[in-house]
Amino acid sequence: MYLFKKVSDLQHYLKLAGSGVQNLGFVPTMGALHEGHLSLIRLSKTINSHTVCSIFVNPTQFNEKGDLALYPRTPGKDIELLEKVGCEVLFLPEVEEVYPPEVQTKLEFDFKGLDKVMEGTFRPGHFNGVAQVVKRLLDIVQPDRLYMGQKDFQQFTIIEQMIRQLHLPVELVMGETLREADGLALSSRNLRLSPEHRQLAPKIYETLKEVLEWRKKYTPVEVQKNAMQALDIPGFKPEYFEIVNRNNLLPIQGWENLDQAVVCTAVWAGNVRLIDNLLLNQ
Ligand code: PAF
Repeated sequence: MYLFKKVSDLQHYLKLAGSGVQNLGFVPTMGALHEGHLSLIRLSKTINSHTVCSIFVNPTQFNEKGDLALYPRTPGKDIELLEKVGCEVLFLPEVEEVYPPEVQTKLEFDFKGLDKVMEGTFRPGHFNGVAQVVKRLLDIVQPDRLYMGQKDFQQFTIIEQMIRQLHLPVELVMGETLREADGLALSSRNLRLSPEHRQLAPKIYETLKEVLEWRKKYTPVEVQKNAMQALDIPGFKPEYFEIVNRNNLLPIQGWENLDQAVVCTAVWAGNVRLIDNLLLNQ
């Protein structure tokens, strides 16, 4: 695997590799890699001749300095995992490389409200930071396909919107959420759970799945209330539990278009904020 820290070196390599690169897949990450990330790389490798993975803990998407400082960083292990899975290129830049003063990297997006609900309510400015870095990384890597996970469903929807709005020549591909045996969605943040909160954490996915039963008896609003109550247990602090249309992320009023519905939630387990979702088209 090639490892580049400088934009110019990565671009030089991609230019040289040029004719040998039939298709370029790109998996942006913030490191602390787990099977979920690796599955995106495997997915990219099924169809692209080369895959670039980036590891960059993007400061502009953190609205709390503490969260940024606590974000797990495991570069040595990440490199080993990427080698094992056969990733061709790792891009591991410093902040100055992604946001050099001479390049206009600051962007203000209008996501037509997609960024104002759910995560957006609790993390103002977060999605502008995510879109800013993904746009910058796409400009640098110029891939044919971009791979992102379903676990960050709102993030995926917003990046889809950004690609549409800016007419970016890249295909966005969704990778499914990978889970531990007990249902907890894989996340880099899981590393920070205390043993007690780790034991509680599967309750999040259990509650998401309850929706499939509850919807037979209750309205979406009632289901939402049930779920918030079910998650309001010692050790947990649910922030939201929303049943929304997957295109506009607004609450659904009835159960008619289940193939368009997704349930999204965020729950604090101790001092770790976990998010998860379930598509209802099943
Ligand atoms: O999902 C993530 O890990 C990050 O939000 C991303 C897409 C790598 C941008 O920093």
